[in-house]
Amino acid sequence: MLTKTLKNESYTEYQSEKELPQEDIELLQHARDACKSSYSPYSNFQVGVAVRLGSGKIVRGSNQENAAYPSGLCAERVALFHVGSNYPNEKILQIAVAAKRAEESEFLPVTPCGSCRQVMLESENKQDQPIEFIMRSGKNSWIKTQSCKILLPFSFDASSL
Ligand code: THU
Repeated sequence: MLTKTLKNESYTEYQSEKELPQEDIELLQHARDACKSSYSPYSNFQVGVAVRLGSGKIVRGSNQENAAYPSGLCAERVALFHVGSNYPNEKILQIAVAAKRAEESEFLPVTPCGSCRQVMLESENKQDQPIEFIMRSGKNSWIKTQSCKILLPFSFDASSL
């Protein structure tokens, strides 16, 4: 029997948004703005994502729902598939996510679903360079990971195929 420590990945927790580097605050603001384009008449939960590319370009995405529920897509995958389709040769440096209820103005803590984590990990593996992930983790806390790997331990990847 052997007890192991999983992956030596680190993340930073901030007790106020102001503690974050200025460019991270700006990326979070893009993610919040992206919530405005959310199409979420079924959940009324608006999610916005901002992706910073190596060129400095910021790509936004928001959740897009559908009356056939599983046909909808989360904001993270909307944004990342847009990057893959339109900027296939650009490196992704950072992803920030924000969320709120449609009828409220306050932004909420949010963590990505398992499928989005899988897609973020593939984006990272594809470019062979870590992607920072920024999210609100509590009423007064934000988390920035150095890589998306920490979000999905024991993940499935192409090495299994
Ligand atoms: N959603 C996202 O877009 N990203 C997340 O990180 C969590 C969940 C969406 C999916 C659905 O449109 C709504 O939020 C409620 O689950």
